[in-house]
Amino acid sequence: MGLKFEYLADRVEAIPIISKWYYDEWGHLPPENASDGEPERLEDYLNHDVIPFILVATNGDEIMGAAALKFHEMAEMFPEKEHWLGGVYIAANQRGRGYASLLVETIANLAPTYGVRTLHLQTQSLDGGLYARLGWKPYAQVISRGVNVLVMERRF
Ligand SMILES: CC(C)(COP(=O)(O)OP(=O)(O)OC[C@H]1O[C@@H](n2cnc3c(N)ncnc32)[C@H](O)[C@@H]1OP(=O)(O)O)[C@@H](O)C(=O)NCCC(=O)NCCS
Repeated sequence: MGLKFEYLADRVEAIPIISKWYYDEWGHLPPENASDGEPERLEDYLNHDVIPFILVATNGDEIMGAAALKFHEMAEMFPEKEHWLGGVYIAANQRGRGYASLLVETIANLAPTYGVRTLHLQTQSLDGGLYARLGWKPYAQVISRGVNVLVMERRF
């Protein structure tokens, strides 16, 4: 066994695990856009060939992390910014081993094959954390949902 990145569409048993991660981490935040009604469903990410999709970091049966390539985060503030990396999450007992960096880099390498020219993300790590180390550039620092976040971009 070893670390692999698989489409959520091929590991649907990971849906409840990832849902709980996302709920525990971000579920307390208000919807990003006033117009948003229902929260996003992971079932919307079961794609291979089109955006949105989620990549899952696995090691055999173990689900170790996840990240999404998706449309329009912060849509009211940045309506022109179409493609986003989001939902980057590594299981608590697997952190600090470079897995998030590998997952983020894998999605960045895939993005141009989906027609993405510029990818965006938001992070509470105002120095850009792992993303800065991977070559993402700061775009703006803003307050979103009451939290100070750095918006970063990567061009292809
Ligand atoms: C952030 C997270 C994905 C990092 O996973 P990881 O596998 O430990 O990451 P790596 O080992 O590749 O890199 C570790 C680096 O991530 C950086 N980091 C931590 N939180 C970060 C964040 N929110 N944004 C950017 N970088 C972050 C730290 O600088 C750390 O470097 P250090 O070890 O020198 O302190 C993980 O801690 C996590 O799932 N946290 C909860 C969810 C979350 O905050 N996701 C990020 C959304 S932008």
